[in-house]
Amino acid sequence: MALWAGRFSKEVDSTVNAFNSSISFDARMFAQDIRGSIAHATMLGECGIIESSESEAIVKGLQGILEDIQSGALVFDPNAEDIHMFVEAELTKRLGSTGKRLHTARSRNDQVALDIRLYLRDEIAEIKDLVRRLMETICDLAAAHTETIMPGYTHLQRAQPITFAHHLLCYAQMLRRDMGRLEDTAKRMNESPLGSGALAGTTYPIDRFRTAQLLGFDAPTANSLDGVSDRDFCVELGCALSLLMTHLSRFSEEIILWCSWEFKFVELDDAYATGSSIMPQKKNPDVTELIRGKTGRVTGDLVTLLSMLKGLPLAYNKDMQEDKEAIFDAIDNVKLCVTTFIPMLSTMRVLPDNMRAAAARGFINATDCADYLVKKGMPFRDAYKITGTLVARCIAEGLTLETLPIEAYREMTPLFDEDVYTAISLDTCVRERSSYGGPSPEAVRMQLDALRAWLETDRA
Ligand code: ARG
Repeated sequence: MALWAGRFSKEVDSTVNAFNSSISFDARMFAQDIRGSIAHATMLGECGIIESSESEAIVKGLQGILEDIQSGALVFDPNAEDIHMFVEAELTKRLGSTGKRLHTARSRNDQVALDIRLYLRDEIAEIKDLVRRLMETICDLAAAHTETIMPGYTHLQRAQPITFAHHLLCYAQMLRRDMGRLEDTAKRMNESPLGSGALAGTTYPIDRFRTAQLLGFDAPTANSLDGVSDRDFCVELGCALSLLMTHLSRFSEEIILWCSWEFKFVELDDAYATGSSIMPQKKNPDVTELIRGKTGRVTGDLVTLLSMLKGLPLAYNKDMQEDKEAIFDAIDNVKLCVTTFIPMLSTMRVLPDNMRAAAARGFINATDCADYLVKKGMPFRDAYKITGTLVARCIAEGLTLETLPIEAYREMTPLFDEDVYTAISLDTCVRERSSYGGPSPEAVRMQLDALRAWLETDRA
């Protein structure tokens, strides 16, 4: 019989029971549910709303339930409506009528709003740790490649020379912002909805500040309707996770390209690649492809959350039960992806010779050739035009700017001297790009130091 059977003259149809039930996916919040109930029962006792002996018995009973779930002695009843009903029913089974006092001055609406905040707060901390580890892995790899020259691209066309470290640290910067977004989300959601009741607070003399404090929140939510109907934090987290996945997906896409014979800039460790069932030569970057694929799924979770909320009147509506599967799916997949990405990246073999060979073709020093003339006094637009003509000549004659004879240069303008070859050498081109945030080894080492210092303070 349902807890609320008093109001009804019939049993709920079994299909509706199964349809309504959320225990299959909200059971994972059991520790948070029990933690919230312990705080609530403690406060009820302190405020004299229930006897302190009963409050103590409830707290003990809840601790016993927690231990039994953790040890496996107590398994979830799949017929329970949700984790909140399950824990309460179990408590009453163990304590008799004292157990029935736990739900005084509380509703499942503020209870679920509390549980999900507590749960997401824990998950955000875990995800931040994973992202931090990924950033450290990227920094370590970058430290080994501050002198590894590769072509930088725009429109996927070779554009200007950079280093592999510089390219890698671009991803570290994205992840640094992801960490910031996760932290903002955690900070903004750190208010306790407990005591909002079903929607309109309660007539009991509860102390919401006390439960907020017991549960490590900064404050109670300021409006009881908002306390039970707000799921902004799910959307914010969904957004932060979607963007994090988008970054991993862009990185994955590049690794997929770099693994191809067309690039061959890197080679994945055999433990992080797979073969083909028919083509014996194949070594496929499945991990990165799956990450790219799962990015769509996490974005879908965000869209689910936004669409679920957009038409809801205040305050709680059962639609909101749909928040959990979406945000849990996003969390699970992000954790899975980052956890797999880290060792895949740290075992990836980098092939600097191939990067350098690619950098040597494609005229990526053409800007530097124009800049050479500018430094000798020519306006940039004229220098740009002359260099374009030289590039066209190289292409026609199968040459590069490095192998084009000095006479050909001087035919265009006598400003060209033998020192042009030094000016357009890849090493010079990279070393001289020492503007703040640029690819020169010195500038990249500064960037790396700053990132590592940031990681240290963030950990503190
Ligand atoms: N299982 C519900 C959820 O996840 C808990 C809240 C139910 N409240 C209610 N009034 N039906 O949203």
